[in-house]
Amino acid sequence: MSTVVAIDGPAGAGKSTVARLLAEKMNFTYVNTGSLYRAVAWALKEAGLAVDDVTQEFLDKLVLEYKNGILLVNGVDPGAGLRTADIASGASLVSKKDFVRSHLLPVQRDAADKGWIVMEGRDIGTVVFPDARCKFFITASLEARAKRRLAQAGEVASGATLEEVKKEIAKRDEQDSKRELAPLRAADDAVVIDTGDMTPDEVVCAMEKVISAAM
Ligand code: DC
Repeated sequence: MSTVVAIDGPAGAGKSTVARLLAEKMNFTYVNTGSLYRAVAWALKEAGLAVDDVTQEFLDKLVLEYKNGILLVNGVDPGAGLRTADIASGASLVSKKDFVRSHLLPVQRDAADKGWIVMEGRDIGTVVFPDARCKFFITASLEARAKRRLAQAGEVASGATLEEVKKEIAKRDEQDSKRELAPLRAADDAVVIDTGDMTPDEVVCAMEKVISAAM
C-alpha cells in the first residue's frame, strides 16, 4: 500500500484548503493534480491554441514537474495564472481526452516516490493510487460550494452572481462526473466528508483521526 492520502471531490468543496492544511500539520508533501490539467489549458492559451488543438506532440514538448509541491511549467511557476475561471473550464475540457490523462498519469505517480504525500484531484483514489493508504471524498452542496467560491477572490469573474457561479460549478460537475474516463466519483473505500457545516480545521481533525488509525 502506498504512502498516499488521496483526496477527491467536486469543484469548490474545499479540497485544496483542507489538503494543504492537512499536509502542513502532518508534515507530508502536498500535491494538487488539478494544476496539471490547468497547466495544459494554460500552456495552450499561452501558445494561442484552443483546447481542442491539444495533441500528443504538444504534450511531449511540455515540461511539467513538481518542485516542493509547486508545479513548474517549462520551468516557470504560472502562479495565479492557473486559477482563473477560464483556465478551470479549459482544464475540465482537456481532462476528458484519453491521451491527456495517460500523459499526466506518470507525472502524478512520480510525485509520490518519496515519503508521505497528500494528493488531491478527481480520480486519485480510483485511478492514480487505487492502493492509497487513506482515501477521502470531500463534498458539499452546490449552494455551499458556490457561496465559498464567491467569497474567494480569483476563480470567479468580478461581479459574478451566486446563480452564475452555481451554473458554472454545476457545468464542471457534470463534465467531470459524466466523462467516460476516470470520472469524478468516490472510491468504494473512501471516507466521505460533507464539509457544508464544517470549518477547515474540523475537516482536518476528522481526517487526522482516520490517518492515524491507518498508519
Ligand atoms: O481541482 P481543479 O479544480 O484544479 O481541477 C481542474 C480540472 O481538472 C477539473 O475540472 C477536472 C480536471 N481534473 C481531473 O480530471 N483529474 C484530476 N485528478 C484533477 C483534476
